Amino acid sequence: MSLIHAAKIALGSLVSEPHPPAPSRSALAPLPPAQQVLPSGFLLGAATASHQVEGGNDNDWSEWEKGSYPDGKPHIKHQDVSGVACDSWNRFAGDVALLRELGANAYRLSLEWSRLEPEEGTWNEAVADRYLEWMRMLRAQGIQPMVTLNHFTLPRWVAAQGGWANEKTVEWITAYTRRVARKLGAEVDLWCTLNEPNVLMAFGYMKGEWPPGLSDGKLGLHVLARQIRAHARMARELREHDTVDADGDGHATRVGIAHHVRIFQPATRSPMDRVMAGFTDRLFNQLLVDVNRTGRIQISVPGMADLDEAVPDLKGSYDYLGLNYYSRDMVRADFKSPTLSRQYVAEGRPVNDLGWDIYPEGLYQALKRYGRAGLPIYITENGMADGKGDRRPGFLREHFEAVVHAAHEGVDVRGYFHWSLLDNFEWAEGFEPRFGLFQVDYSSPDRTRTPTPAVATFQELARGLGLDPQARTDDAA
Ligand code: FCB
Repeated sequence: MSLIHAAKIALGSLVSEPHPPAPSRSALAPLPPAQQVLPSGFLLGAATASHQVEGGNDNDWSEWEKGSYPDGKPHIKHQDVSGVACDSWNRFAGDVALLRELGANAYRLSLEWSRLEPEEGTWNEAVADRYLEWMRMLRAQGIQPMVTLNHFTLPRWVAAQGGWANEKTVEWITAYTRRVARKLGAEVDLWCTLNEPNVLMAFGYMKGEWPPGLSDGKLGLHVLARQIRAHARMARELREHDTVDADGDGHATRVGIAHHVRIFQPATRSPMDRVMAGFTDRLFNQLLVDVNRTGRIQISVPGMADLDEAVPDLKGSYDYLGLNYYSRDMVRADFKSPTLSRQYVAEGRPVNDLGWDIYPEGLYQALKRYGRAGLPIYITENGMADGKGDRRPGFLREHFEAVVHAAHEGVDVRGYFHWSLLDNFEWAEGFEPRFGLFQVDYSSPDRTRTPTPAVATFQELARGLGLDPQARTDDAA
């Protein structure tokens, strides 16, 4: 891409969508208590994903986990395989008890498509029954489920036919969504179609670090567009086939995506770094927000994609915007990279165990910025890898404060889901990073769950919202 082209693309984003500055909290008057600021019915919960916790899955990831790169490096750190993971498939009641212990009133979890439809056109009703039972269990305990239909993993038969590189995947995931909506609609009102289409594009199709392991910038952009088309179709299916208002709040379905947003800052004052930070921001952050307003997929990257496509049912397909927020990146232009830039963390910053910048101001900035889209917002993920567990309490407190701060300034934020309820299988990083509020002992046959210090912090936040953490009894765990 030429410099002039890149400059043209990024110019708009540089001037039109700056992140509002984050005032330092200590310089401001203290915030009123959260309960006075956040809307009633605010959801305070935790999040997981099927492949990361269930165990026993057979999908494109379980295949990928066994492999290595041409230089012999394993696809997954330490050659970990997801295997039994947290065994949540067999320990769901215990996980619900953990949510009760936290005082959570919501749980974001995902369904495993490969379990429900292991072969093309074959539906596993026993699996569907089990998920239905889980939803009932959650509701009976006063925990509202937020259900993600697809959190990265694909059935093998979908992957074998190209996965998101194949337009037919849109049809297949639409049909799957219809069946799920019919089956679970009476128990679920809050739906999340896809998790982080932008992250899947980047890691699976551009950086080649996740299945299908491709490094093709052009294909990546088409994969992003395809996921957006799929979302629109899935949202329509959910509205058509889930007509039961499970909790009587007047909404049978509320549909959104979980969108991974990051703060991108130019690494230097060089015009190219500024241009590429703006470009990355537009493509990674802004595009998935704009599609709901315009109903169009507009991606223009010279030599890679020139899409301007009206998509039926896309406009207004979000009832809410789900934000997954973790970190901030410095951006350096690098036209040899399929993503056209390199990202890194500035020296001296506090980082989590994976080296991600800990930047709570970014959550406030993101909320202020995306609050302008006029949609209610849920923080669908936020958390940190912290093996010792001693820094998570501060992380949780500061990020929750960013939520209260933004709400105090008028942002319509309706929920916060901490990533994660449990330590789990962190994709290419394997089991080493520990994101759980509860630590999991992978060497014990029952995958013992032990509270980390942040459980007390979460409980404090829950009490502050009038929720009631329950002591765990032995038989529940
Ligand atoms: C997000 C993913 C989630 C988890 C966290 C740490 O990008 O949605 O599955 O891996 O990162």
